[in-house]
Amino acid sequence: MATPHIAAEPGDFAPAVLMPGDPKRAQRIAEALMDDARLVTDVRGMLGFTGTVDGKPLSVMGSGMGQPSFTIYATELLSQFGVERIIRVGTAGGIAPRVRVGDVVIATGAHTDSAMNQLRIPGVNFSAVADFHLAQAAWEASRSAQAPQDGTVHAGPIISRDHFYFTPEGQTERLAAHGVLAVEMEAAALYGVAAELGAQALAILTISDHLLDHSEDMSAQERETRFTGALRLAVAAAHS
Ligand code: HPA
Repeated sequence: MATPHIAAEPGDFAPAVLMPGDPKRAQRIAEALMDDARLVTDVRGMLGFTGTVDGKPLSVMGSGMGQPSFTIYATELLSQFGVERIIRVGTAGGIAPRVRVGDVVIATGAHTDSAMNQLRIPGVNFSAVADFHLAQAAWEASRSAQAPQDGTVHAGPIISRDHFYFTPEGQTERLAAHGVLAVEMEAAALYGVAAELGAQALAILTISDHLLDHSEDMSAQERETRFTGALRLAVAAAHS
């Protein structure tokens, strides 16, 4: 069976799927976590892999960038391939002063400037929130066995914006004043489609840069190492 954007058979995907934006990162994650990873789809180069981690099935698939791309893949996975849980693993820009480059943010909710969730229930400002059970599992994993290279783990609201290169003047500062931790481009749509399809969803984000404080930057090497910390939390949530 194939859907327009995924060429796989029923049963090719595990009940839980980790989704980074970059399909090559999906491949690196699958190779790092699994001895038995097999490619299950590669339509448009959007690679998806399935294997086992600690004896439990897990899939990893790229989502592309932005809410429309994420929603296409998430809808097909949740409605056609028996997927029950999606955990986005990606990077985000820091907004809150206490969030530093290299830290990890568990996104308990996602504000958005996108119309995608606004269209869901006319007259309602849809609240895009993470699955509590998954968020709790990720949080507990962050408390239980923190590796020394892991940054601080935060849990709280983020914003999923549609623009990467355009921001209305003053918006980032106002978001910071409202306790928003970070910005990325997918989580609100993930939480919306998961709500629509009765699935569980969470986004776990590594801070790669800071929008209001450019004093720290991360090398490519550091990005990969820090990303591993977030991945550990994502696997714990996926298998909780
Ligand atoms: N904006 C949106 N997404 C991001 C950013 C950003 O500044 N940094 C990492 N992902």
